Amino acid sequence: MDWGMKNRLSRILNPATGRTVMLAIDHGYFLGPTSGLEDPGATVEPLLPYADSLMLTRGVLRRCIPGEANVPVVLRISGGTSILTELSNEGLTVALEDAVRLNASAITLSVFVGSDGERTTLLNLAKAIDFGERNGFPVLAVTAVGKDMVRDARYLGLACRISAELGAHMVKTYYCDGFEEIVRNTPVPVVIAGGKKIPEREAVELAWRAIQSGASGVDMGRNIFQSDCPVGMIRAVRAVVQENADVKTAFGIYTEEKERSLAGRGLPQQ
Ligand code: 5RP
Repeated sequence: MDWGMKNRLSRILNPATGRTVMLAIDHGYFLGPTSGLEDPGATVEPLLPYADSLMLTRGVLRRCIPGEANVPVVLRISGGTSILTELSNEGLTVALEDAVRLNASAITLSVFVGSDGERTTLLNLAKAIDFGERNGFPVLAVTAVGKDMVRDARYLGLACRISAELGAHMVKTYYCDGFEEIVRNTPVPVVIAGGKKIPEREAVELAWRAIQSGASGVDMGRNIFQSDCPVGMIRAVRAVVQENADVKTAFGIYTEEKERSLAGRGLPQQ
């Protein structure tokens, strides 16, 4: 592997553990206004010390994140659709030399296997990988869930394997029963998305299950920045991913942080 590629990958996947806590704040690219991301800069500022990398669009990166921020960037380069239309018709939204200008450590895009946009988005992935291989940028393929497709190991495993076969360096998918099978059949690191907001303990458990089943970390958004204690949540998830903490220990980290934060604001502890 070329030095540049290796170096960038090691900025995403901690070389000591081979795992990552990626903080995803790219939701607005198709959802528009997103609860918790009204002011992305303010949301991520206290979270950055606990994130191995930040996944976002170039618009939010340029306008909301200070250039001095010392965090590896995973730059989203796909989009062009919204929740009002056929989501799977994504195209590439970033001239790839802009990833160089923005000093991205990796680029990322969605593939919609099993949807109208399957062919286009898989060819987008291939194009991004050609650029990545030429210029030393790892590519994270996001397996978006096709319309009417069940989020099971058979379907997600298909999307992950196809992405790896096309040359993706990492794949993001959803946790599901039989996740070990997906990891076994995907010859590159697999990280999980958190999905819609669920109770904090369940989100910690989700991360723990994924790690036990061979995930190389998380690319988590809403279950961190929409939590009632985002710092507590990212610290808890980090403990699971990078320190092999069990659910009780990690949830304890969240609870303590929440109590500290309430006490700091002079509010009664729950
Ligand atoms: C959307 C994305 C999101 O970044 C991804 O879903 C992670 O966020 P969350 O944990 O909120 O699901 O790639 O396509």
